[in-house]
Formats: sequence, structure tokens, C-alpha cells
Amino acid sequence: MSFTVAIDGPAAAGKGTIARAVAAHFGFAHLDTGLLYRAVGRRVLAGEVPVDAAQELAPGDLANPDALRSAAIADAASRVAVIPEVRAALVDFQRAFAARTGGAVLDGRDIGTVICPEAAVKLFVTASAEVRALRRLNELRAAGHDTDFETVLADVRLRDARDAERAIAPMIAAERAVILDTSKMSIAEAVAAAIAVVEARGGAP
Ligand code: DC
Repeated sequence: MSFTVAIDGPAAAGKGTIARAVAAHFGFAHLDTGLLYRAVGRRVLAGEVPVDAAQELAPGDLANPDALRSAAIADAASRVAVIPEVRAALVDFQRAFAARTGGAVLDGRDIGTVICPEAAVKLFVTASAEVRALRRLNELRAAGHDTDFETVLADVRLRDARDAERAIAPMIAAERAVILDTSKMSIAEAVAAAIAVVEARGGAP
């Protein structure tokens, strides 16, 4: 039987970390759907037409997620994500993943609203823009990137606006979604809160 956990929210709110931990706890498969848009974004930066890049996405495009983590690719991803044909080309893959036996966790922006409106559990993970920028700054610095808080905060705000204001599948909390504001939570607290929500909805390891 399939059991889908949909986790949406803005960049750097902690949804990836929470999604991975929830998947590990319950033994579910995990798909970071942002990687799909990042893979398309990378192909577009390489000179391909966005729609073709989405249609021809191959599993190998996701084989090295670390190569998709740069700020330039994040920006390209949020640009291609406003194109309806790009989104449409990625729907079937995501739905097939969600329907797999044994449970699945998908994280992104429109999982609870568009991809899996019937998900057993919907979480909207958020945090203030300042907290998210600080987390992202620490990640970038740890990875050796030389940048500053104001630059990262401006990037976070720009991407939030683009993701939330687009006409198709905007980032928004789904109906029935549990809102998890992680601004003042540690990672362990946020993960425990998410696991409790999944258990309350009938998820079992
Ligand atoms: O989660 P992320 O930062 O890796 O996502 C990169 C971009 O991809 C994000 O700015 C918007 C887009 N995206 C989307 O539109 N829908 C999703 N389900 C996931 C990501």
C-alpha cells in the first residue's frame, strides 16, 4: 500500500533535512523534487531549451545531487519552475514515485497542492527569511563559498517571491497541511515534531 508524506515550504526552512529523517525513521523512499527543477536549470544554463531539457531529464541527471547545489543552479531552477510545460513534464515521474509501495516522502513546493493532493500527511515547513538566510550562509561558508548575509538574504527573498507569486503551482500551504515553523527549533526538535505528525496520521515504521 502507498503512504505519501508531502512536505512543502520555502528554501532553507529545513524541509530536506526533515524529509530525509522522516523517510529514514519510517523506512519510506525519499524524493527531493527540487533536484528535478535544478537538473532542468543546469541543462538550461548549458544552453538547452527549457521544455526540451525537462522532457529529456534522465535518472543520471540526479546521480550527483551535490553538483546541483550551487546558487546559480538554484536561481535557474526557480526560473524554469515558472514554465507550465516544464512543470507538466515532471508530474508523472513524481506521482509514480509517490505511489510506490512501502511509503514515500516527497519534498518541494507543490507536493500537497498539485502533485499529491491526496497525500496521507501534508506538512508545510517554514521559518523566517532571516533564519533561513543565516542557515544557508553557514552551509555555503562550510562548503567554501565566500559570501555574506545580505547577499544570501536577498537571494532567499527573491526566490521566495518567484516561487510564491508564480501563476502555476505557487508555493503555498495546502489545505489540511500542518504548518511547522522551525525558526526557533533545533533540527532534532523539528524532526521529532514531523515524525509525531506522521504517526498521528497513521504512519508506522
Ligand atoms: O527545493 P530547492 O531549493 O532545491 O528548489 C529549487 C527550485 O525549484 C525552487 O526555487 C523552486 C523550484 N521547485 C518547484 O517549483 N517545485 C518543486 N516541487 C520543487 C522545487
